[in-house]
Amino acid sequence: MQIVNLFFVDIDPVTFNMDVTKLEEVITDKTKAIIPVHLFGQVLDVAYIKEIVQGKDIAIIEDCAQAFGGKLNGKQVGTIGDFGCFSFFPSKNLGAYGDGGLILSNNSAKSKTITMLRNHGSSRRYHHDIIGFNSRLDEIQAAVLRIKLKHIDGFNDARKKIAMQYNDEINNPRVTAPSINKNFDHVFHQYTILTNNRDDLQTYLRENGVSSAIYYPIPIHKQNVYKSSHANVALKNAEDVAQKCLSLPIYPELKSDDVSYIANLVNKF
Ligand SMILES: Cc1ncc(COP(=O)(O)O)c(C=O)c1O
Repeated sequence: MQIVNLFFVDIDPVTFNMDVTKLEEVITDKTKAIIPVHLFGQVLDVAYIKEIVQGKDIAIIEDCAQAFGGKLNGKQVGTIGDFGCFSFFPSKNLGAYGDGGLILSNNSAKSKTITMLRNHGSSRRYHHDIIGFNSRLDEIQAAVLRIKLKHIDGFNDARKKIAMQYNDEINNPRVTAPSINKNFDHVFHQYTILTNNRDDLQTYLRENGVSSAIYYPIPIHKQNVYKSSHANVALKNAEDVAQKCLSLPIYPELKSDDVSYIANLVNKF
């Protein structure tokens, strides 16, 4: 059941984020919300989107699942739009030991509704005002996150250092390294390269003991759930990047020697 009309915007092939210059093409007088994703930890220019929607009744819901701690002009992601949504899935920059998440908003009425939704539509025990669901953060995850939160800047700095090292050491002309733009923070949830020989490179890395991953092999408009409703949609950059992208290992504990080993393999390929 599709309850809303979704319009997808093509990506910028350099940042892999939504190409905000194409956003206005899909905004109509029925548009209720825009969901920009800070993909791979690369911070997207939400301030630009805010300018586009100024004066319109359109909510900006930042998807910060991969960008905890990222900043745009000194402001934390998730605090620029109307809502900021975070995931604490274990592999995320701030990860719990199970599932969890967070929604930020400075709209107190909407925050109240969201707080009720996460607890079966209830704000008072055994009183249910709206239909909700169970999306409570359990105490064990909260305890883990409280400790890890103190270290998030260190975790992100370690990721950035690894990404810089990859960028310095990868010099294979058939490989495009991710862009690092000083105006937009990048907290490198993923370190994603592009190459025409992606599948061969992945096999070569695997044969040499290095895992890599394809984030993401199928663009959203080509997923089974949307492919009939969006059959006429063509998102050229997203489709092209999905054929060429490969994410190399990155996590705060990854050793410099291992980064060099992986970069060397990419160069030798
Ligand atoms: C960009 C992005 N948005 C949303 C989600 C969903 O997060 P969760 O699985 O915690 O609901 C993820 C998780 O993989 C993600 O990477």
